Amino acid sequence: MGTKADADLLRELTERPEEWGQVRISVPPDTGKFLHILVQVAKPKRILEIGMFHGYSTLWIGLAAKEVGARVTALELEAEKVAVAEANFARAGLADVITVIQGDGKQTLAALAGPYDLVFLDAAKEDYAAYFDLIYPRLSPRGVIVADNAVSHGDDMAEYFDKVRNHPNCVSVLVPVGTGEEITYKKG
Ligand SMILES: C[S@@+](CC[C@H](N)C(=O)[O-])C[C@H]1O[C@@H](n2cnc3c(N)ncnc32)[C@H](O)[C@@H]1O
Repeated sequence: MGTKADADLLRELTERPEEWGQVRISVPPDTGKFLHILVQVAKPKRILEIGMFHGYSTLWIGLAAKEVGARVTALELEAEKVAVAEANFARAGLADVITVIQGDGKQTLAALAGPYDLVFLDAAKEDYAAYFDLIYPRLSPRGVIVADNAVSHGDDMAEYFDKVRNHPNCVSVLVPVGTGEEITYKKG
């Protein structure tokens, strides 16, 4: 994975969050590695992240995206989080790999055409079902959605689970890495 500088930045974001004014809401390192591996093996061309915070998960995704020639679009509500994330991306040499769009992800996604080959969903859990309705028409055939906190916040994701697990054109499974990832594959 990347250079020593990349590893140092990821470690800094993971192990010394106080330096970034960060409370521990980023994905744990295991989830970062899981996303990184997924990008490396699936080789998506277009990746979408919804809920970026300071860009920790985006860095794991973006470092792999750079290696496989993919582009990342990241949606984040809060301007101050966007500013910190963009500084992190510049420091990691990913400014030309990751495009950040600030605003309410439900509105910004509605204005995006897609298609996306891989989507990482990590915004407000009660919005996941609404995001699915926006993501699905923009998801490539054989595209994948990874929805975070499927174990830690499973109760808040009941409507989302119902949608993805009962969708006639999807296969969905909970993978117990990190705080739990619901992996949903679009068949065609
Ligand atoms: C759990 S954090 C994301 C952590 C990030 N994926 C990481 O691992 O570093 C959730 C983020 O979603 C953002 N968010 C919440 N509601 C949103 C919305 N409607 N549109 C876009 N972003 C939103 C929050 O501001 C917060 O930064």
